[in-house]
Amino acid sequence: MAKDRSQQGPSRPEAAKTTSGGTKKPWGGVFDQATDHRVEEFTESVSFDRRLFAQDIEGSVAHAQMLAQVGLLTADECLQIVQTLGEIRQEIEQGRFPFRTELEDIHMHVEHALIERLGDVGRKLHTARSRNDQVATDLRLWVRWAIDQLDERLTALQRAWVDRCDRDMDVIVPGYTHTQRAQPVLAAHYWLAYCEKFERDRLRLADCRRRANQLPLGAAALAGTSLPIDRQDVAKRLGFEGVAANSLDAASDRDFAVEFAFVMALIAEHLSTWAEEWILWSTVEFNFLKLPQAFCTGSSIMPQKINPDVLELIRGKTARVIGHLQSLLVLVKGLPLAYNRDLQEDKEPLLDSFDTVRASLELAAPLVAGAELNRAAIAERLDRGHLDATTLMEHLIRRGVPQRTAHGLVGRLVRKALDRGVRLSDLPLEDFREADPGLDASVYDVLGPERAVAAMVSYGSTAPGQVREQVRRWKQRWQ
Ligand code: ARG
Repeated sequence: MAKDRSQQGPSRPEAAKTTSGGTKKPWGGVFDQATDHRVEEFTESVSFDRRLFAQDIEGSVAHAQMLAQVGLLTADECLQIVQTLGEIRQEIEQGRFPFRTELEDIHMHVEHALIERLGDVGRKLHTARSRNDQVATDLRLWVRWAIDQLDERLTALQRAWVDRCDRDMDVIVPGYTHTQRAQPVLAAHYWLAYCEKFERDRLRLADCRRRANQLPLGAAALAGTSLPIDRQDVAKRLGFEGVAANSLDAASDRDFAVEFAFVMALIAEHLSTWAEEWILWSTVEFNFLKLPQAFCTGSSIMPQKINPDVLELIRGKTARVIGHLQSLLVLVKGLPLAYNRDLQEDKEPLLDSFDTVRASLELAAPLVAGAELNRAAIAERLDRGHLDATTLMEHLIRRGVPQRTAHGLVGRLVRKALDRGVRLSDLPLEDFREADPGLDASVYDVLGPERAVAAMVSYGSTAPGQVREQVRRWKQRWQ
């Protein structure tokens, strides 16, 4: 997995060692005591929110340009601010920017650096803005970016599944309910089932993106501003689809973060289901699947072991992603309007959910592509479990036997086969005739897993024609 340096940011900031009367806080006017260093360490967020630096600077650039547009900055002041913000951005990207705990968060770091370099011009950037609407804006921009990242990776995973379909189109596997053999299905039908789940996740992300894509900037602290700002202008510059209509709501709303955390939890759940299934399938007991060794690890004591640790961790890390959703829901529960500092706690769960789900998706795609079905082992045992019983029942139904009656008749035939230790297709025609005197040799046409699969006709079923059509539909989307 490629580490995205711009998102990881440089190493943790140095903690201030002394009570830092040294750094004058931008909000320090009313204070006559320096902040206790323990408070600085307790309240800082720059150790994690510096990951929002690109969004913070992007938002500040748009804000400055709007301020110039409405005459709150001169064109020259705006130019200086935009240029200097660009330099600061580069320094952060290159790991040359000093982060300091006493400067609290990424917003104050950027502004402080700007003022250091531009003096009074820098002091104008925060006109008609509060950190409350600023952080809400940054986080929405980040969520928008993060959604696009996940969407790309979900699509890559879907493509890995669809690519497998051609390779595996001739493979029939047992389908399970209650983890008991149920009916035969095409392996490709399994693969496309995961595509569907991840497609719904993509749609949920897109839906979440629309609601996240509303501009809160201009809400200022909570009430708006008496300065003549142009919020539509900022929205346009930042690519927001609309402008949040109520400043109290805009400064306090974290619905988009909770929604995003939920979608990530569901993606993790889907990955976890798949991981669990493939962990089972790769056991000696199942022996359906050989995982690519590059995605397995060994045991320090048992030399023969090749363990599915990546799949286990994809399953295991789902726990923290679900936990983060819970954290966010509890965090916002009962917060009065508008901004409360509690909201600073929204970032770590969100960032970690994203990192975890992104990493899982990035490993899932090559795992899906690299695993090999053990065709011979699957085929050898496909006859077990009377997977064709349901199709036999449907054969009787087609001949006019009421479903409940047909169910009972086939149940008794299965009993017979079980007692003799044979397959349904091994039973002589007399046994079928005894069950239903109208039956003839055509009954064997629906027996056996291949024929049971071939007998399927319904839309969305595992009928080979249906599955091929679905594969075609998936491929078409990516042409
Ligand atoms: N670091 C803060 C956060 O993430 C930024 C907003 C601080 N606002 C304030 N009024 N103290 O929420």
